[in-house]
Amino acid sequence: MDDAVERAAALREYAEQTASCTKCALAGGRTQVVFGSGSPDADLMFVGEAPGFHEDQQGVPFVGQAGKLLDRLLGGIGLTRADVYVGNVIKCRPPGNRDPLPDEIAACEPHLFRQIELIEPRVVATLGNFATKLLSGRPAGITRVHGHEQEVTLGSRTVLLYPLYHPAAALYTPSMLKVLEEDFARIPEILERAIESPVVNDDPAPVIEAEPESVQLGLF
Ligand code: URA
Repeated sequence: MDDAVERAAALREYAEQTASCTKCALAGGRTQVVFGSGSPDADLMFVGEAPGFHEDQQGVPFVGQAGKLLDRLLGGIGLTRADVYVGNVIKCRPPGNRDPLPDEIAACEPHLFRQIELIEPRVVATLGNFATKLLSGRPAGITRVHGHEQEVTLGSRTVLLYPLYHPAAALYTPSMLKVLEEDFARIPEILERAIESPVVNDDPAPVIEAEPESVQLGLF
């Protein structure tokens, strides 16, 4: 079996396991777990916040208005959803689309880290504050760090993290949309750089730390 086939099979198997997750209270209110979608072999992965109403109904991330904007931004750099992988910090819809709670983020963190480990992206673009704070391991907000790529080690993988404004926030704020478009335009160059000179992790950390990072860092 070639690598891509094995990777797709491993990701599918993990998605099947995750479909019955009851690690947090969101399991009680969801229609289904929204695991993620796109290419299991993607060099570029996007991580949003949490599924909304439409995502919960359809089982696919970013299918509402924010997703349409994400598709348009991808098209602007010559990519489609099939070229990338899209997931979220938490995989079940919070009631009324409220912000994810710290215990929900902590419970779901191993799922995201496992996805990243299986997909092995070179660049992880975080959409908004929740994904950026969790995966950068730093409390600095998106307004300060958007558009600045940084090397981070996520489980056993060192990647370039590229924080971006969340498309939902940019939908109704033209100035933010302009910044998001400018930051997006840099993705091809960042991706090319990460593919040509992969960031190397000389000292792999344990795949999943005993205490979730979100708790260790006291981010919330
Ligand atoms: N917003 C997100 O952060 N994720 C989705 O899947 C949809 C909207």
